[in-house]
Amino acid sequence: MKNSIKTILLGLLASLGTSGAILAQNTAPTENDYYKIMKVPMPEGTVLEVGGLCALPNGDMGVSTRRGDVYIIENPTGTAHFRKFASGLHEILGLAYKNGSLYCAQRGELTKLTDRNGDGIADRYETVYAWPVSGHYHEYSFGPKIAPDGSFFVTANVAFGNEEWWRGESRVPWRGWTMRITEDGKMEPWATGMRSPCGLGMINGEFYYADNQGDWMGSGFLTKVDKGDFTGHPAGLRWTGRPESPIKMSTADLYAVVDPRSSPKGGPWIKPENNPNETPITLFEAEKKLPEIKTPTVWLPHGILGISTSEIITDDTQGGFGPFAGQVFVGDQGQSKVDRVFLEKVNGVDQGASFPFREGFQSGVLRMAWGTDNSLFVGQTNRGWGSTGKDPFGLQRLVWTGKMPFEMKAIRAMPDGFEVEFTLPVDRKTAEDLANYQVTGFIYKYHPVYGSPVVNDKVLKIKGVKVADDGSRVRVVVDGLREKYIHELKLEGIRSQNATLPLLHNTGYYTLNSIPSGEKLAMAGLSTRNSGAKHDHTAMASVKTTSPDGPAKGATATKPAKPLTGKRITAMPADWGKPDQVIQLGTVPGLNYDKKALTVTAGSKVSLTFNNVDDMPHNFVIVKPGTANTVGETALKMGLKGMELNYVPNTANVIYHTKLIQPGAAETIYFVAPTQPGTYTYVCTYPGHYANMQGTLKVVK
Ligand code: CU
Repeated sequence: MKNSIKTILLGLLASLGTSGAILAQNTAPTENDYYKIMKVPMPEGTVLEVGGLCALPNGDMGVSTRRGDVYIIENPTGTAHFRKFASGLHEILGLAYKNGSLYCAQRGELTKLTDRNGDGIADRYETVYAWPVSGHYHEYSFGPKIAPDGSFFVTANVAFGNEEWWRGESRVPWRGWTMRITEDGKMEPWATGMRSPCGLGMINGEFYYADNQGDWMGSGFLTKVDKGDFTGHPAGLRWTGRPESPIKMSTADLYAVVDPRSSPKGGPWIKPENNPNETPITLFEAEKKLPEIKTPTVWLPHGILGISTSEIITDDTQGGFGPFAGQVFVGDQGQSKVDRVFLEKVNGVDQGASFPFREGFQSGVLRMAWGTDNSLFVGQTNRGWGSTGKDPFGLQRLVWTGKMPFEMKAIRAMPDGFEVEFTLPVDRKTAEDLANYQVTGFIYKYHPVYGSPVVNDKVLKIKGVKVADDGSRVRVVVDGLREKYIHELKLEGIRSQNATLPLLHNTGYYTLNSIPSGEKLAMAGLSTRNSGAKHDHTAMASVKTTSPDGPAKGATATKPAKPLTGKRITAMPADWGKPDQVIQLGTVPGLNYDKKALTVTAGSKVSLTFNNVDDMPHNFVIVKPGTANTVGETALKMGLKGMELNYVPNTANVIYHTKLIQPGAAETIYFVAPTQPGTYTYVCTYPGHYANMQGTLKVVK
């Protein structure tokens, strides 16, 4: 009975057009309707900070941990019986199976673990190849992944610097490199430019890796790595003078291109804030002068598709996991989620599109592996790193429910724009309406500071669209494609056939390394109808805000202790004389302020200095009582403009805030404490931080 009413209602809604679409959106399905996160039962007291995960041929699952243990889980999709296979190893951040043995990267070596007597426990630990470590805490080593010829790929994280602690440096060979190691222990330096190369993967027999935002890294990305490539972080260039290096470019070669005023010896750096003449340069511009540079195959825009990329895994379930067979999933540690990547080759160049896929895991997503039932095992940890998922570690499974989500299955480059393929046929009426498409091109800077705002962004003119007869694809014809740029496709008003479903995720990001040649569509064959329907294009719509960089209005308030008109006032109001209260606030690792609570007197004049001594950016935002999570979630949806706007949403819930403070930087703000006593919250709204990074602002009489 209920069902038939629902059917009639849906039919009615469809005939109502726009209003129906809005109603349908209100009851829009969620990721959980299509992909369920399941628990893997774990023995009481097990600390499973997953560093490596690999499926074994008999259906068991191997798990290595950051505490140095290796477990074998029997019947992992059922009762999950844990057996400790090896222990006493050093921070194992990878696990692979080959010919009856397990291989793992410890901090300083690739180790082979073998159970010779068949009792289910490793009784031989062999060093395949060892590399130097300086002892710096951040010298993580990741892998291995096994190449088709049986050799192993291992990556080595950079340490951080003497000059600024967040500046990556390679203190010993081959930090910042990918190494290729043979079974008999021969090591070949393969490529450098790696900063934090936690994600490794073999895709169609070729080696890919994912890197994290940081110094020199404007955003996370996925890149195919050929021998001799340089992917962007200069630390590892220190070793290119060695005869075995396949890369010839030097640190000086790079500095000459990206910042001619930097010393060719590698320092001291000119900080951008002291260097107003800094010329923004992108990685692809540097590549024109230094061909060993390899730009990303697919960018994962920072804060939108995560903040710290991890495992790369190909969907080889042939449809057992849903409609994305052959595509690639990329984990994200900081935002506890999994993104999806479609790859293609154009003019011999690798490129493709990235999409959101599934969020909501319990801790930071580090490793993934396929179960025998085509579920995706997701291994998690966040110790020292923080994550949106609040648990310190976890092992969960992602299971397809069998229902078909309405998604952009793929975006392909075309000579005149893009072709979007859908998982379900589209509704022709909404798909032929140009108002439902927005395409924005943008890129990141390539520079020695941490991260980058979106630069050179431009909304492209949509000239027309052509919907395939069967509704499975739409050609989107635009003006102004730019090679090497990321193109955001936002398809907000599109519905599936019969106007029932909005897209589960309506944005995709195509990295256009090469524009295909070939015939462009004739304008005569295109739909150019534009209903003018307005969408909340969050990425672009949020440009108007009260708080751009620069001196804030209100800094010249005439009466002390009267509320000031700005939310970010960085010069002391002239008539203050001096503040009533001076507060120093800092950071501690793991997404925390160094003070969990602050107390101010209602209506008092406060000077607050926020000093970011962490290795990632943070801000400080005072919000109305009970609104910290709402503000944090709104900040997550600011899209491409988020960084430029300091990830501070334009909402009345925000009372005062600093800008986004880079590692090693500080800002002082001046504000008048709320006159209403109560318990307020301060929160960092940088994507992925708000759930953890909060403190209490007590306003007292
Ligand atoms: Cu933060």
